[in-house]
Amino acid sequence: MFKFHYNLERNAIGFVVAIVVVASIGGFIEIAPLFTINQTVEKVADMRVQTPLEIAGRNIYIREGCYACHSQMIRTLRDEVDRYGPYSLAVESQYDHPMLWGSKRTGPDLARLGNKYSDAWQTAHLNNPRDLVPESVMPAYRWLLRDKAKIDDLGEHLAALRTVGVPYTDEMIANAAIDAYAQANPDSPEAANVTVRYGEATNVRAFDGEPGAVTEMDALVAYLQSLGTLTDAAFQPQVAEVE
Ligand code: HEC
Repeated sequence: MFKFHYNLERNAIGFVVAIVVVASIGGFIEIAPLFTINQTVEKVADMRVQTPLEIAGRNIYIREGCYACHSQMIRTLRDEVDRYGPYSLAVESQYDHPMLWGSKRTGPDLARLGNKYSDAWQTAHLNNPRDLVPESVMPAYRWLLRDKAKIDDLGEHLAALRTVGVPYTDEMIANAAIDAYAQANPDSPEAANVTVRYGEATNVRAFDGEPGAVTEMDALVAYLQSLGTLTDAAFQPQVAEVE
């Protein structure tokens, strides 16, 4: 055995070929699951897309690096299901570009965070986690309440997402900035259009507690409140088993 390796290492071409063969086995095992991607992603009728305001919040979530401490994928392990709820299905991140499953949990998993706390709790917590959880090591994001969310270019974000397969309509793209403002201003005349376009389950509220200007806090809280609420497929076990 050692003799074989000794000789192999002395034969540069043979050694390169051996490395390529061994590395491609690992590569194939990584790529193979994609051959069956169509069967992997469950087909569910009620899967909704994220609203422009939620996409703005998602972009802030990425910008601030929240994924470095929070995962968004509940594994099939008993303790995770007991703590966070039904394990994540592929369809729940079907429209996530890029996916935010994460690989590190300094804080809890957020895949089913939506509706767990009030908007006021989320706003106060992001502003300074220690006001609510004294032992928290999460950073304070004080500028979210102060800074206005950038909403005028959301149509372009939606259009970009459409090119990678998220089914945004022309109407959604054309009205993205108006819908983003309206979702955080329930008393504005356009507010009703948001639920017409994105579904009755969409939250239309002044997420940061103040109607009017759309702050980054509005966008991020709207996004957090949508997590795990885009489809209820995970609560119907038969969906996972049929496919
Ligand atoms: C340095 C790591 C770290 C970063 C970065 C971080 N968090 Fe946290 N987060 C935590 C920890 C630890 C907790 C648990 C203690 C607490 O509730 O504050 C937590 C708790 C939370 C909770 C409550 C979850 C629950 O189910 O109780 C939410 C929501 C949250 N974080 C959102 C965010 C968002 C949004 C960002 C980015 C703007 C972020 N976190 C960035 C570490 C982090």
